[in-house]
Amino acid sequence: MDALAALAAPDMARVDALILERMASDVPVIPQLAEHLVAAGGKRMRPLITLAAARMLGDDVSAAVKLAAAVEFIHTATLLHDDIVDQSDMRRGKVAAHLIWGSASSVLVGDFLFARAFELMVETGNLAALGSLARASRVIAEGEVLQLSRARDPDLDEPTYIQIISAKTAELFAAAAESGAIGAGGGAGQVDALRNFGLHLGLAFQLADDALDYGGLSETLGKNAGDDFREGKVTLPLLLAMARTRGREDAFWQRVIARREQGEGDFTRARELIIGTGALAATLERAGEHADQARAALSRFDDGPWLRALSDLADFAVTRAS
Ligand code: IPE
Ligand code: IPE
Ligand code: MG
Ligand code: MG
Repeated sequence: MDALAALAAPDMARVDALILERMASDVPVIPQLAEHLVAAGGKRMRPLITLAAARMLGDDVSAAVKLAAAVEFIHTATLLHDDIVDQSDMRRGKVAAHLIWGSASSVLVGDFLFARAFELMVETGNLAALGSLARASRVIAEGEVLQLSRARDPDLDEPTYIQIISAKTAELFAAAAESGAIGAGGGAGQVDALRNFGLHLGLAFQLADDALDYGGLSETLGKNAGDDFREGKVTLPLLLAMARTRGREDAFWQRVIARREQGEGDFTRARELIIGTGALAATLERAGEHADQARAALSRFDDGPWLRALSDLADFAVTRAS
């Protein structure tokens, strides 16, 4: 992650300048609210991927810089909406925007950022890149709605879980890589390979994120651990632990997940079961497999600093603590 950030620093400076420029609006609440989230940082993984994909294929990153800013705007918009949907009170180490400005403002500024992203994409004049990110925006929304419709459902199975995280998270990583490759004029095989890289990286990243919700610390995460459990969201660590304690803990899971009747100590108990049954380790193992598949997708490219940095990013997605 550090290697990629260092390598991409000059390009990323252009992306950051563009983000700041396009956050502007005559309506003061918009830049205030957006600034709150943007100034808090974030890892910038998705725009880094867009830039790296373009740099791997050539020297012209003018389209990629705009696409990278668009990707980060789409991501930021989904975070604003997500924290309302998930009723989360912390994001990037700060109080979530909806608790300061209210949900209505947060929804609408999210829409503004989405729209800004589309303006940037149109400026590239590249319909295929626009198509990739437009599709991702639609698929993310589908994933979020699917997840919502299956909240507190202890019968959610693994294929459906994978379908949800493919849509809500991996698709944007895929489109970040794909659009960067398209913007740089890559051929169909190169574009497909980079899309595949992004898809598997995104799956690895979300699997690790779902493990961190039970195994991580709020202080390093910058968001509250335990949010998934409190919402009754069925993620892989929970799903596996429920399966591995069948017949023993059914009443507990029914109460805390299906009925969402949670009291003091329930999260700790769930975490103990998730760790004790090996469900947490199995989730991270699954993340590792997708990181391997992400790396394998890069095998067709010549070795070089960008390739190595992307390859390291696949490791980071699984081993990160924040
Ligand atoms: C958070 O993404 C949303 C998920 C897909 C888990 P990041 O962890 O990349 O968020 P920031 O941008 O670094 O804050
Ligand atoms: C992140 O979903 C995916 C999107 C924002 C679309 P989560 O709800 O799982 O991520 P965190 O834990 O809030 O970052
Ligand atoms: Mg969510
Ligand atoms: Mg959330």
